[in-house]
Amino acid sequence: MATPDDLRSRLRSLKPFEARLPLFDPDALPEEPLPAVIEWVQQAIDAGVAVPHAMTLATATEDGVPNARTLLLKDVDERGLWFASVNSGPKGLELEGNPRAALVLYWREQGRQLRVTGTVRVAEREIAERDFLSRHPIARAGAIAGRQSSEMPDDAEQQLADAQRLVAEQPDFVPEDWTAYYVEPETVEFWQATPDRDQMRVRYRRFGVGWRRDRLWP
Ligand SMILES: Cc1cc2nc3c(=O)[nH]c(=O)nc-3n(C[C@H](O)[C@H](O)[C@H](O)COP(=O)(O)O)c2cc1C
Repeated sequence: MATPDDLRSRLRSLKPFEARLPLFDPDALPEEPLPAVIEWVQQAIDAGVAVPHAMTLATATEDGVPNARTLLLKDVDERGLWFASVNSGPKGLELEGNPRAALVLYWREQGRQLRVTGTVRVAEREIAERDFLSRHPIARAGAIAGRQSSEMPDDAEQQLADAQRLVAEQPDFVPEDWTAYYVEPETVEFWQATPDRDQMRVRYRRFGVGWRRDRLWP
């Protein structure tokens, strides 16, 4: 298949960022990265960034085959960055074999990227239950009906209807495989585009019991 010339030139003419971008002062960053992560997430929400809680989670199998998908950020606290999913699908199985992962959040409107690498930990069951029960009933039924990422059978509609009935009859039902995970960070990188087409990068790395902070070449 030939790439249309038109597509190439259109791609090259696209502008990735807005003209007005937030200020970023690397010298004002805290000793530890998580308070700054919380601040950036809050600023993205306040700035009206589209889907500011969408993030890419990259995993790899034990023998190094990579995979990535979008998930919703559920929380940020002293343990790390949180997401929820089933443990029975590809990402859950990949994480069981190899808990090391990477996260990327991209906030176009602010010219910001946040990168995190670390170890993914499974949280207490109560947290997964609370998360599941806070989801919309249709989303709950979808998660109950069939195994995530498996092929849909011909009677998928029927399975979904059965799951919807289950949710209506047992509103506290939580499937066994629903899991709350958090990424315990080992590195956290803040990337900020500047209006003069430059970029600023600051990376934190765990260093003993604390963190080391460095500017990186863009
Ligand atoms: C914006 C957006 C948010 C999503 N949020 C979640 C989520 O929070 N949890 C989840 O399991 N899948 C979520 N998905 C679906 C995943 O991208 C993915 O299709 C699914 O988790 C199966 O991934 P796997 O086959 O790698 O296990 C989301 C997709 C999009 C586009």
